[in-house]
Amino acid sequence: MKIRKAVIPVAGKGTRFLPATKEIPKEMIPIVNKPMIHYAVEEAVLSGIEQIIFVTSSGKSSIEDYFDRNLELEQFLEKNGKSHLATEIREIGQMTEVTTVRQKEQLGLGHAINCAKDLIGDETFAVILADDLVVNKEPVTKQLLTISRENEGASVIGVMEVERSETYKYGIVDGQPIDSKKETYKMNKMVEKPKPEEAPTTLATPGRYILGPEIFSYLERIPKGVGGEYQLTDAINLMASEMNVLAHIFKGTRFDTGSIKGYLDATMEFALMDEEMRPDIINLMKEKITAYEN
Ligand code: G1P
Repeated sequence: MKIRKAVIPVAGKGTRFLPATKEIPKEMIPIVNKPMIHYAVEEAVLSGIEQIIFVTSSGKSSIEDYFDRNLELEQFLEKNGKSHLATEIREIGQMTEVTTVRQKEQLGLGHAINCAKDLIGDETFAVILADDLVVNKEPVTKQLLTISRENEGASVIGVMEVERSETYKYGIVDGQPIDSKKETYKMNKMVEKPKPEEAPTTLATPGRYILGPEIFSYLERIPKGVGGEYQLTDAINLMASEMNVLAHIFKGTRFDTGSIKGYLDATMEFALMDEEMRPDIINLMKEKITAYEN
């Protein structure tokens, strides 16, 4: 069955980006000239997803507006001879169908996903955390959807290798490889943010999941976990003890745009990926390095 829906939780307060996030959602902060959320939705659309469910909180309406049409702006741009920009703006408004559901209390990622239960119904769906930007020709969600399809529609968690010293930042997966390339694993368990000395492996998830609708019954069963929050990781761990859950090492470069350093890294990368901008950016960087190293 085609996987049509993706849940993108956007209810967080974005405290690492204060004061910028005092009045604008973190997800609307731009990387070059597109807000962070644009990249997450684009990934979903390029992966064949037809409906985006944003799990929101108060103060996040600009995210919904961004994916709506802005006829006034389109007409203004047309009238002023900027029809290429008008087309770009129109295309964003037509990118995908957007639905929102409110998370009324910030009780963790597991709780946020559970808020989308009624909108998902009995379908397998994707989850994309917009703070984790993954750059690759074939979008990471599409890679995971392929693995799911090849394995009787199993739930699949995207994973990447991290340094052992970093395990405390992620959900960490333990499993056995099921392919000769050791890229796809049958999950034994999943642990939320283990200390390096306690982490079963160094396979971490940067917020990419394909989940069967069964996840909702597991989300109902978990107690509060790390940080006193309902953790998606704990529900997946429970699911893996009763069902076939896979983890797949995806291809791509991941940026943690939820941190200032990762955000700047992604901004430089996207500026450098633009062939027109690249020579100027390289020169600017060289000038800055010379100025600050002396
Ligand atoms: C969340 C998840 C964690 C995952 C991480 C990826 O944590 O709980 O399992 O590895 O996102 O960014 P957060 O970073 O929101 O604390």
